[in-house]
Amino acid sequence: MFKGKDIVSISDLTKEHIDRIFEVARGMIPIAKGEKKSKLLDGYILANLFFEPSTRTRLSFETAMLRLGGSILGFTNPSATSLTKGETLADTIRMIDAYSDVIVIRHPLEGAARLAAEFAEVPVINAGDGAGQHPTQTLLDIFTIVEEFGHVEGLKVTLMGDLRYGRTVHSLAVALSFLGADVHLLSPRSLKMPRHVLREMKSKPEIHEQIDEVIRDTDVFYVTRIQKERFPDPTEYIKVAGSYAITGDTVKKMKKDAIIMHPLPRVNEITPDVDSTLHARYFKQAFYGVPIRMAILALVLGVI
Ligand code: NCD
Repeated sequence: MFKGKDIVSISDLTKEHIDRIFEVARGMIPIAKGEKKSKLLDGYILANLFFEPSTRTRLSFETAMLRLGGSILGFTNPSATSLTKGETLADTIRMIDAYSDVIVIRHPLEGAARLAAEFAEVPVINAGDGAGQHPTQTLLDIFTIVEEFGHVEGLKVTLMGDLRYGRTVHSLAVALSFLGADVHLLSPRSLKMPRHVLREMKSKPEIHEQIDEVIRDTDVFYVTRIQKERFPDPTEYIKVAGSYAITGDTVKKMKKDAIIMHPLPRVNEITPDVDSTLHARYFKQAFYGVPIRMAILALVLGVI
């Protein structure tokens, strides 16, 4: 069901796909931690094409591949490639397709990963396309929730911050609605969830502008960074920067077992004093990126 599959949008996956990824990811945890050795992807090559900055996504794909005995090629600085000579993305992809067994691509333009998938024979995984989608982040986000609560259905999940430009919340909102979560959206009016994402959701989320409306009964807070780099007008950014920070004081009003997640990097949306509270899960969440990406690579390469 997976061999050769592209993962461009979270909607490319069914509930059965997601369950299978989670099952494989659980088995990968000891390998992700370095406690167990594996040669599962020995002889396979991953091409990591990063046209936009990244820390976690790129490094977790790399460590996932290396821990499974595979190899990596790629770039993090597209200005050092023939793209600066005017080569099209389609031609670049056609070449890299011949050099690798699986392609991971992050690109500033929405739709770039879909285009790459059309030109590549090998599976293409979208590691973020502009303000579009970030499906592997969504998988590790949902995995984090399932590992914490045992389920997603019925949980009150509040997505907050930059819902307009944040791609992680675009994929996540769709997935949560399909899995039966009670989704709440909290953002300033200028950063509301785009209508096309709302249309893709299976149920209608509740929309808020004040954190007080959700603070006391939310189970999962998913906090996001204001996506400064995607603002067409810098004065618009200045107006909203700093809205909705989670601080030590906010945390006191939360449910006892509520958790706080963040795809990271954070800027000032979660103050450092929150890190030591029992609610913080963002670093654990970032670790889960490794077993989840191991599972995805092994599945699309058809070795399990
Ligand atoms: C996110 C991204 O690149 O979309 N980071 C990530 O992959 N963990 C979030 C962000 O940049 O704010």
